[in-house]
Amino acid sequence: MKTLFEQTKLGNISVQNRFLRSATWENMTTEDGQLTDKLYKIYENLAKSGVGLIITGYANIVKEEQPNHGMMGIYDDSFIDEYKKLTNIVHNYNSKIIMQVAYGGTKTKFNLGKRIIYAPSEVAERSTNVVGKAMAKEDINYIINAFANAAKRIQESGFDGIEIHGAHTYLINQFLSPYYNRRTDEYGGSLDNRMRFLLEIYNKVREKVGDKFTILIKLTASEFFQGGLTFDETKLICKKLEEVGVDAIEITGNIHGKAKSMVGEVFDGYRIQEEGYFIEYAKIISNEINIPIITVGGFKNIDKIEKLLNETNIDFFGLSRPLLAEPDLIKRWKSGDRKAAICLSCSKCRTSKGNYCTIFNTCIK
Ligand SMILES: Cc1cc2nc3c(=O)[nH]c(=O)nc-3n(C[C@H](O)[C@H](O)[C@H](O)COP(=O)(O)O)c2cc1C
Ligand code: SF4
Repeated sequence: MKTLFEQTKLGNISVQNRFLRSATWENMTTEDGQLTDKLYKIYENLAKSGVGLIITGYANIVKEEQPNHGMMGIYDDSFIDEYKKLTNIVHNYNSKIIMQVAYGGTKTKFNLGKRIIYAPSEVAERSTNVVGKAMAKEDINYIINAFANAAKRIQESGFDGIEIHGAHTYLINQFLSPYYNRRTDEYGGSLDNRMRFLLEIYNKVREKVGDKFTILIKLTASEFFQGGLTFDETKLICKKLEEVGVDAIEITGNIHGKAKSMVGEVFDGYRIQEEGYFIEYAKIISNEINIPIITVGGFKNIDKIEKLLNETNIDFFGLSRPLLAEPDLIKRWKSGDRKAAICLSCSKCRTSKGNYCTIFNTCIK
């Protein structure tokens, strides 16, 4: 029988348990994306409370592209010293830390009109209605190099790995999507072509950081709308990512704000679940490929997670909002208090003064 509190390998990282803090943008950096005392405290608390692997909030790879206020930056070398301090703090508590990197794109309302926002094609983003600039080949190369340079900085800063954000309708997700990607060149059309941008980013990142550095990719199970990326396509992408050497895949979906109302609905033949929204999808992927599969979304109950661990090949379980509501949840569960997480999944955790649980008031002073 597998247990949640056992030392487990994720790529080249040895993790003390199977819990991840999934990437959570805190909205607490300076304007330029530099860390603040509040952020050091948040990460110290997560590490202290025994989260096996912490994934940072998404960090921007080019200065001019910031999909949200208060997100971490990794767009130049000035960040390395402060992230060294951060990774040291986390490692002192035997926790591990990976930085998530993203190019946001058109799923944003932040600073519109003041910058160029790239997209695969001129297709309005479904929630914001923002239309981006269809990328020329030079723009594509610029972003690929920016991901790779960010990866090198992440490695130099002492992080245990990098997570490339390929989900949630951000730029990479849009390239994968037949709805957003209407290109007729080698980056559009067939799935092989739509995958090319992600694979080129991965290859360039790998070239920069070497074979031993752990690379995760976060992918959407399906786009959950007619005409979008389907689960069958995601399965093929996962197979390809395994083949090229990606260390692990995190399965998600762009629905956490409205997931509660979607529970029970069937997409691409599988049902969104109340506890672990995407487990039906992650389960299938975990049976088809051999690298570790992580899934995130809606987990509250440790007994259910443990059952899943033993009934599927899913290896790691991500938590975001439950750790905003209870930063010491993992410690509590480990101590034997197995009551469900108190988080209500109401998504009232985004405020202009920072993202924290406004229901149980966990704001760091
Ligand atoms: C405040 C907030 C910020 C988030 N920031 C990120 C992020 O930076 N990158 C990311 O991939 N997902 C982000 N997410 C999504 C979470 O990682 C997670 O996939 C989602 O909340 C569902 O998991 P949960 O039910 O455990 O919260 C964020 C979610 C919240 C609530
Ligand atoms: S505001 Fe709601 S969803 Fe967010 S952490 Fe608190 S209880 Fe959970």
